[in-house]
Amino acid sequence: MNDLRKVIEQLVRQTLLEMNHSETDLKPMVHAGTSLNTAHHYGKRQPLVAANWKMNQLSGTARSFMSDFQLRDRKNIQTLICAPHILLPVLAAGKNQPDLMLGAQNFYPEQSGAFTGEHNLDMLSDAGVQSVIIGHSERRNLFGEGDELLAKKLAMAVENKFLPIFCIGETLKERQDGATFRVLRNQLLTGLSSLKNPLPNPEMIVVAYEPIWAIGSGLTATADQAQEAVSFVRERLADRFSYSYANSIRILYGGSVNEKNASTLAAKPDIDGFLVGNASLDANKFSSIIEQTAACKRKVFVS
Ligand code: PGA
Repeated sequence: MNDLRKVIEQLVRQTLLEMNHSETDLKPMVHAGTSLNTAHHYGKRQPLVAANWKMNQLSGTARSFMSDFQLRDRKNIQTLICAPHILLPVLAAGKNQPDLMLGAQNFYPEQSGAFTGEHNLDMLSDAGVQSVIIGHSERRNLFGEGDELLAKKLAMAVENKFLPIFCIGETLKERQDGATFRVLRNQLLTGLSSLKNPLPNPEMIVVAYEPIWAIGSGLTATADQAQEAVSFVRERLADRFSYSYANSIRILYGGSVNEKNASTLAAKPDIDGFLVGNASLDANKFSSIIEQTAACKRKVFVS
C-alpha cells in the first residue's frame, strides 16, 4: 500500500514538473519558516548531531575528549563523531556511550587492491565505523573530488549500510550571484544519481547543507537562510523520490555552528541537526550543542 502511494506521488510530481518547465523549480516554493513539514512528518525524523574533527586531535586528546564527553540529555537524538582514520580505533576503545556512532571523513569506493594510502568500507567497518562523510567542500575543493566519484561513494556507502552524510553547499560568490539554488540542486541530484533500487530506508540517507562561506569562518547562515536552503533541498528530494520519502530524510546544517547559535538554528522545522567542525573539538561545547538540539526539537514537536 505504501509502495503504491509512493509510486503515485512520484508520478504526479513528475507530471507536474514536466508540465511546468519554467525556472520555478530553481526557487524554493515556500518561504523561510514554512516547509513541506508538518509536526507529524517532523516527528518521524530523529535529530542527529555529528562532529567533524577534520585533521585535528591526537590519541591522547581523543581519549580525554571521550572521558569528558558526558551527555545529560540524549533522549531521542543520534550522535556521531567523524574522526581521522587513525583515531577511530582509539575512539572505539574509549567510547563511553553505546549509542554514540563513529564515522570516517573519507573512504575509497573500491573493494580492495592497489590504492596506496586509501581505506575501504570493510576496513572502516572493522574499526567500528557506521557512517561516512561524503562530498565535504574540503574534499571537493582541496582534493578535487568530483561529482562522479562522489555519486559512486554515496551509492557504495548506501549499499554497504553505512550512514552517509552527503554534503552540499554554495560559495559566497555563488550566493551573491543568485546561483545558490541551482548549485544545491545540481550537487544533490548528481550525488543521488547512482543510487540503485531498492532504495534504502530514508533514515539511512543524510544530507548536510554546508554553505562554504560559513565553514570555519565564524560566519553562520542566519536561521532563515539555513531553513530556506534546507527546505529547498527537501523539495528537490521530494521531486526525486516522493513527499513521504523526502520527509523522512534528515537534513543537517553545517557552518560555524556553536553552543551559542545551535538552538536558534535547531528551532527551524527542516533543520534536523548539525555537522559541527571547530566547536566539536571541545567535549563541553559539543555536548551543549547536542543537548540544546535535543531539547529544542522536542519542544518544536510538542508545540
Ligand atoms: P565548522 O565546520 O563548524 O568549523 O564551520 C563545519 C564543517 O566543515 O563540517
